[in-house]
Amino acid sequence: MSSGLNGDKIHLKAPKNWINDPNGFIYYQGMYHLFYQHFPYAPMWGTMHWGHAVSKDLVNWEHQDVAVFPSRYEDQNGCYSGSAVEHEGRMYLFYTGVHYDKINPENIHICPEMQFEASQLVIVSDDGFTFDNFQDKHVAIPVITDPAKGDKVHTRDPKVWRGKDAWYMILGSSIGYKRGRALLYKSKNLFDWKFINSVSKPEGFGWMWECPDFFETAGGSVLMLSTMGILQGDNGTECQTICTVVDFDEETCKMDIPDNYQYFDHGFELYAPQSAIDAEGRRVVVAWLRMPEPVDGKWSGMFCIPRVVEVREGHIYFRVHPNVEKQYRRQISSAAESAEAGYKVSMKLADGEGANIGGYQILRRGNRVYTDKTAVAKRKEGERRQFETPEMREDCYLDVYVDSHLIEVFVNDGEYVISNAVYGLGSDIQADEMQNVKIFTVGS
Ligand code: FRU
Repeated sequence: MSSGLNGDKIHLKAPKNWINDPNGFIYYQGMYHLFYQHFPYAPMWGTMHWGHAVSKDLVNWEHQDVAVFPSRYEDQNGCYSGSAVEHEGRMYLFYTGVHYDKINPENIHICPEMQFEASQLVIVSDDGFTFDNFQDKHVAIPVITDPAKGDKVHTRDPKVWRGKDAWYMILGSSIGYKRGRALLYKSKNLFDWKFINSVSKPEGFGWMWECPDFFETAGGSVLMLSTMGILQGDNGTECQTICTVVDFDEETCKMDIPDNYQYFDHGFELYAPQSAIDAEGRRVVVAWLRMPEPVDGKWSGMFCIPRVVEVREGHIYFRVHPNVEKQYRRQISSAAESAEAGYKVSMKLADGEGANIGGYQILRRGNRVYTDKTAVAKRKEGERRQFETPEMREDCYLDVYVDSHLIEVFVNDGEYVISNAVYGLGSDIQADEMQNVKIFTVGS
């Protein structure tokens, strides 16, 4: 096993070239397996493979060989996102296979005019490390031909979980490219799937729902949706992940989705989160950081710190996973003394107070936290630079985790989080009340 090129401690980064969504996140036989959408040949999106990394602790990651790659008619043009479950000791990876209707002779990796067919596939592994892409793939759900039951093109990203008496799958889809919808299936054996129900919202929830994830956690059941077109914008900012507390009935697969929702992250740059259950039974989630530009022209894409999801009084909290939190024990007096994995700045802000972390600005005004990344952003048209939380419920204490290309501002232990991609971050830390600021790095 070789380590990634970038020191994959705390944040899992692309081994090289391109990664996007986390896939197949699972604690399996004593190890965390985290797969990811991967284009192994260039730092840009293209024919999707599943890259693979493992960790014993959610802190140190080791990249493995590519696990899933195009090998049959249904996935000839890409193995899109999906999820993992364990059954009778074996690992089952569910994913979307994509077959383009036409090929662009100049670039076989990008689909001309979005004309393709999507099917849902499963590949089974005995140990989570060996994947026979030629023998062990099966079609779980063929291309959908009945528009009442989903869309032939835009149906993808199977998330599978074990219910009380059956296996369940939720799939992202669209109604006529106008409204997002989720499809719900049931299975007894993980190979034969029956369509049971579909759910959607009238409007205002985007035209397509990607990467749905439904799970139970402390305090309630949560639905996360990566919605396309929910905001005005371009460069992907119009696609945002939302989450909400829902009711789900296993018998009928009816799901009540309320009108109000939270954003997964208020930096608007994390997308396609996926959850798993950790070794202690907590619900933990990771998400892809959409980076505006490859680092040194070499790699693009990383994942946020694993976050524990909990519902408290109807609000969904995303707090730093304790395995990560406890790494930052060594107090230092400046960022320059930090270890390779970066540092954490802890502080309390009174109304009107702020801080500047290497050019990234943070300010509390009233009961909101505002951030501004203008000084450490790439000058890309359409990219947002300023962010804010909704009104905070509690006080205002912050834990800011700083890595060379990702800043995550945890407000009140995960009441809200603002995460942003950064470039050219300085090492100077200033705050209005420096005596309220503590800096920690990894190590004791
Ligand atoms: C979300 C997404 C998924 C799809 C994958 C393709 O970022 O578009 O819906 O499966 O990425 O890489």
